[in-house]
Amino acid sequence: MPGPPRLLWLLLAVAFPGVPGAQPWAPEAVGEEEEEAPRTPGPPVLCDYDRCRHLQVPCRELQSAGPTACLCPGLSSPARPPWPPRLGAVHVAAEAGSAEVRWCAPSSPVHRYWLLLWEGGGPPRKSGPFNATVRRAELKGLKPGGAYVVCVVAANAAGESSAPGPGPGGQAPEGSAGAGGPALGPCGRVVVPPRPLSLVHAAVGVGAALALLSCGALAWHFWLRERCGCPRRPRRPRRPRAANPEGTGPPRSPRRAN
Ligand SMILES: *[C@@H]1O[C@H](CO)[C@@H](O)[C@H](O)[C@H]1NC(C)=O
Repeated sequence: MPGPPRLLWLLLAVAFPGVPGAQPWAPEAVGEEEEEAPRTPGPPVLCDYDRCRHLQVPCRELQSAGPTACLCPGLSSPARPPWPPRLGAVHVAAEAGSAEVRWCAPSSPVHRYWLLLWEGGGPPRKSGPFNATVRRAELKGLKPGGAYVVCVVAANAAGESSAPGPGPGGQAPEGSAGAGGPALGPCGRVVVPPRPLSLVHAAVGVGAALALLSCGALAWHFWLRERCGCPRRPRRPRRPRAANPEGTGPPRSPRRAN
């Protein structure tokens, strides 16, 4: 029968060049693919970078340190001074005379930050410097009832970001920032309420004074009554009650009910 041998030969012919031929080359082909795998990662992922997070390592360092490649937000040229950082929440602790200031990094290379604090006129007080990972700092020595303007400044090798301070437009830099600049400015107001303890003291004092005055008035009143024998009482003898005038209903109504 010609059928079975031909089929066997066909099977062998298909299998024979395939199996011995492929085996020596297969490991090399797989090896090439494995070498290329790290160079072409799948979908690009953003680095775990938050420009407002305190102690945030710069994104470039995350990129070089991480096991997998990730994407960083674009930065302005290191040959130019940084954009102004964006001032965030300011939490005032009136009792301690301090305030915690937070900010967000600009889209620029930054080497360090510092804060400027204006009180009324005159030159600002300068704090810091803080390194590039820092996003919050404490202002100390604030007076109760005081009003201040605080600005956060970023600096790199090319210079420092602008901080308008309390001047005209200093606290409303929206619109003055160009494309890519911060949506809100680097400056803000810090208003310290009067010391709560002094308010409590004042309230207690006023209350005590009012209580003393009332007691004094009462004592004086009773003392007068005792001494003069209550001069008003004899002037009010019980006179016979006059007949009810017309129209006064309530005294008559019980009689009508009977
Ligand atoms: C930056 O400053 C913070 C707070 O002072 C500190 O904890 C951190 O170690 C500093 N980082 C570097 C890289 O110097």
